[in-house]
Amino acid sequence: MKILIMGLGYVGATTGLVFADLGWNVIGYDPNEERLSALARGSLPFYEPGLSDKLKEHGETGRIRFTSDLQKAISECETIFICVGTPAKEDGSADLQYIEQAAVSIGRYMQDDKLVVIKSTVPVGTNEKVAAWIAGAQPSNISFDVVSNPEFLREGRALYDAFHPERIVIGSHQPEAARKVQRLYKGISCPMVLCSPRTAELIKYASNAYLAVKISYINELARLCDRIGVDVRDVAAGMGLDSRIGRRFLHAGIGFGGSCFPKDIQALIHEAHRHGTKLTIVEQAHEVNRTQVRYAIDLWEPAIGGFENKTVAVLGLSFKKDTDDLRESPSLAIIDELLRRHAYVQAHDPLARLPEIYPRTRVKQFETMEGALYDADAVIIAADWDQYAGADWAKLKAKMHRPIIFDGKNMLSGRRLRELGYEYWGIGTNAESIGPDVSCSEHHPERMNSQV
Ligand code: UDX
Repeated sequence: MKILIMGLGYVGATTGLVFADLGWNVIGYDPNEERLSALARGSLPFYEPGLSDKLKEHGETGRIRFTSDLQKAISECETIFICVGTPAKEDGSADLQYIEQAAVSIGRYMQDDKLVVIKSTVPVGTNEKVAAWIAGAQPSNISFDVVSNPEFLREGRALYDAFHPERIVIGSHQPEAARKVQRLYKGISCPMVLCSPRTAELIKYASNAYLAVKISYINELARLCDRIGVDVRDVAAGMGLDSRIGRRFLHAGIGFGGSCFPKDIQALIHEAHRHGTKLTIVEQAHEVNRTQVRYAIDLWEPAIGGFENKTVAVLGLSFKKDTDDLRESPSLAIIDELLRRHAYVQAHDPLARLPEIYPRTRVKQFETMEGALYDADAVIIAADWDQYAGADWAKLKAKMHRPIIFDGKNMLSGRRLRELGYEYWGIGTNAESIGPDVSCSEHHPERMNSQV
């Protein structure tokens, strides 16, 4: 059986390679010629650890190939995964135009039974719409099934997540169609959640929103911790030992970014409004996140005596480590906020490139951490790359004009850095600078890394 993947962005490319790895024959299609030919040449249009090797491997095994001939690909494949993007519209709702285009093409070109699987994150009710779009585009009546099978993988950990999922959600009213999708995941052992399409669609949004709420909850607690001289990491560690709460996603910092959480919670908020109800907690989580970068910059500003005309090194541009994805990155919000306060920015990232939008007289990107730190009045850690945690901060101190560290990811040891002569500020982790002995004796940065 052949699988067609429509849409070769992050989710589509990963899904296609995972199915190739599981032994299926996969054809990849994307309307973007440049992306398609890059993939055909064996080059990934984004960075994801381990995925380039899989692309090379399955280019060689022949289990994945790429085509721009959609009509032929649709007629050749029995199963079609829709993995196209669902970007946010102005009002926060999900834009389904690419989903509709994919469905219409399937309807138009199918000549026999198809199993259509929606992987993209879509609002509740989209499964029914896709079925209607396919049926509406068919020249003659041919049967098909539409199954909802949302994706839960994290950027930077996509392959691990794909091969070790905590659950696979399959939403369908047709048991046989659900069983066919289940069979595609042969060899992967995890709970299978078999449910209605609407339930599957909501599980995806509800999961992302819950994780976002968890992060905003700890970020708001961090603000309280800054006022009362308690270290939020100790609070999170103490809370997390309760298995009903759990330790993960209680890592306070500059807030969440990326292509999923911000977009998905807004889409969910919009959905609730559309159905005449409100998700108050999710709305507040969004609000906390929207203001978290400004909170951090306000918190740190007195330590540097105002940001105006100061040179600030910003380490990390991507929304988190091990990806070059800048979408909704809190780091860019930090740069915007620093520019508003008339600072100069010296940025660094191991992979991501600074967008063109910034004035080069004010914001420069450096190839090395040392370059970015040179003569800086302070450094802001804006993404949790391992190389920042493992840097030789004793040596780097000499590069800086003033040794001040603002740790937006709460990932360094404040105690050790203060011993080295730095002034160190995190978010909700400033107990040691506020009062004596109010918190646990030692902070282990590695403990913080257990978030993911
Ligand atoms: C997320 C979901 O985890 C994944 O299941 C879904 O399929 C897509 O969205 P991703 O966006 O890749 O994945 O990253 P994730 O690791 O979840 O982090 C999201 C954001 O939250 C990042 O900005 C991260 O730094 C931040 N975060 C995460 C915190 O600020 N604190 C935490 O404790 C955890």
